[in-house]
Amino acid sequence: MKNGVYRFAVLALVLTLLISAVPAAFAETTVDTIMTVGTTQAFTDEKVPEEDIRTILQAGLAAESAINQQPWFFVALTDQEVMKEISGSGMPFGAPGGAPGSAPGAAPGKMDGKEPPKGDMPPMATGAKASVGDSPLAILVYVNEKSMSPNPSFDCGLAVQNMYLAAASLGYGAKVVSSPTNALNGEKHDEFCEKFGVDPEMKAVAVLLVGKADLSADATSSASVREGLESKTSIIG
Ligand SMILES: Cc1cc2nc3c(=O)[nH]c(=O)nc-3n(C[C@H](O)[C@H](O)[C@H](O)COP(=O)(O)O)c2cc1C
Repeated sequence: MKNGVYRFAVLALVLTLLISAVPAAFAETTVDTIMTVGTTQAFTDEKVPEEDIRTILQAGLAAESAINQQPWFFVALTDQEVMKEISGSGMPFGAPGGAPGSAPGAAPGKMDGKEPPKGDMPPMATGAKASVGDSPLAILVYVNEKSMSPNPSFDCGLAVQNMYLAAASLGYGAKVVSSPTNALNGEKHDEFCEKFGVDPEMKAVAVLLVGKADLSADATSSASVREGLESKTSIIG
């Protein structure tokens, strides 16, 4: 009897220690993932199982949004033929023509019709640039701009980042691209919406590519350099 009580006490102690260690371990893993994740620029053809697709979509749905408007709709696309249709009529996106990392045919000094900022552009990685059709899964993110949220696209950005990190924690590489929105919101917008079950009032805001990183190619090591705490942050106190 005494032995049983002793065993129970030890088990309870071990369980308490384990449970109290979980939040710390989780926090460390999340920060590690954020600091190391990097954009994946080459994917294998390996299919993403439906269970993982659902988990990634759920992570997107778990994002916070202003006034809880949830102004988004996600389309998990695995049909390569449809992907080709989208990427085929997209515009190249990247650094201005001539700069490192620029897409072939990018207009010199302009990006998506926008003038580059005065001063130096942050450096962009050179090398392969994956787009829709290069990954086994593409998650199209649509925004409801008429939502009451003061900034629905910002809300969608949070959802995309949740899905990006969920994908990374499941062992996938991921990449955000906005260039395919040109095709998705172009002349075939309503046709695409009907095909995908999306309210035609919504607009595509980004696409998240997901799949296993192709380790035989230089899939991630070309990450662009980030500016540091000194130039992009203040700590006041
Ligand atoms: C909202 C958004 C849109 C982006 N659109 C494109 C795109 O259309 N094409 C592309 O090649 N990369 C695109 N990117 C990827 C960025 O170029 C990339 O995240 C950035 O250069 C940092 O590169 P790194 O993650 O490799 O370090 C996009 C990223 C974000 C966040």
